[in-house]
Amino acid sequence: MNKAIRILRDEHRSLAAVLHGLRHLAQASLDAGVQPRFEVFRAMIRYIDEFPERLHHPKEDACLFARLVARAPETRPLIEVLRAEHVESAQRVRALERALDEYERSWPHWSGPFLAAVEDYVEFHRRHMQREELEVLPAAERVLSDDDWRAIEEAFAGNADPIADLREQDLARLYTRIVSLAPAPIGLGARWDSAPT
Ligand SMILES: [Fe+2]
Ligand SMILES: [Fe+2]
Repeated sequence: MNKAIRILRDEHRSLAAVLHGLRHLAQASLDAGVQPRFEVFRAMIRYIDEFPERLHHPKEDACLFARLVARAPETRPLIEVLRAEHVESAQRVRALERALDEYERSWPHWSGPFLAAVEDYVEFHRRHMQREELEVLPAAERVLSDDDWRAIEEAFAGNADPIADLREQDLARLYTRIVSLAPAPIGLGARWDSAPT
């Protein structure tokens, strides 16, 4: 596997880990006896917003997708769907934020609708990443040249863009914060207290 593909898959794994954590905690908070710490949900949603928006999707759009369409025009319909999903993803995160605001205002009610909003987003993004891994990467491996891969690798490693590198450091710090705040088995943070009765 070349380095660019390895980085792209690693980025998907980081995002999938936070999505898994978010779903797990949203499920756990259905229990009316648990008082959720909303800052954990907020940090996770911020990561889900910023990691794809600031780092991952721009690299896919500008580099991998553009080169793939140039070398294999038959992939254009697929790439158009995936580009549209990048835009849709940002809108769906806004809906997720609104659901979290409503949950925080309404707690101890509204855990069900919040979980439904989380599951909706997780499923949407899981399908998106799966299509990239099962359809885009195999096509790219078939048609891209060594020069293409070198350029994609540069972009994905952040070497070509010092700003991207700074963003990556920011996001790495946010990821560490999520791990330190989220309770087991997702992270190392304190257990969520029982709700006052
Ligand atoms: Fe994508
Ligand atoms: Fe992706």
